[in-house]
Amino acid sequence: MSLTLAIIKPDAVGSGKAGKILAHLEGAGFTVRAMRLARLNKAQAGAFYAVHEGRPFYDELVDFMMSGPVIPMVLEADDAVASLRETIGATDPAEAADGTVRKLYAESKGRNAIHASDSDENAAIEIGFFFSNHERLGL
Ligand code: CMP
Repeated sequence: MSLTLAIIKPDAVGSGKAGKILAHLEGAGFTVRAMRLARLNKAQAGAFYAVHEGRPFYDELVDFMMSGPVIPMVLEADDAVASLRETIGATDPAEAADGTVRKLYAESKGRNAIHASDSDENAAIEIGFFFSNHERLGL
């Protein structure tokens, strides 16, 4: 078993899809090991996506991620990083496979309902971004 970080994004939380997305993830076999509701400021959203700094969509991405509450969660499964990326589908919902979270719930490439870590190394960094050692006790 391994861990990854998912974030239900402001578009999905704001339109009342968080519960359906969580049920989808649990139905796909993920166990929720930590979860919270968070509101990111500009510095936090910018730092979380620092790897994309300088790309044409960076400012839009940061503004979007601070536009409303988000729900970060630590998910556990076999090969969690790869499994979650398969479960959520391609970044652009128009390209996402049928039955994936983004195909079902995302609006566009920018407002795409959910984030997932892209490697075990980044999963560890991203989990640490949102959850304190205390909250991660037992993981
Ligand atoms: P996410 O998996 O959270 O990682 C980076 C995010 O950048 C990605 O999902 C998209 O929401 C966003 N993104 C990537 N490409 C574009 C784009 N061309 N336009 C707007 N947002 C993008």
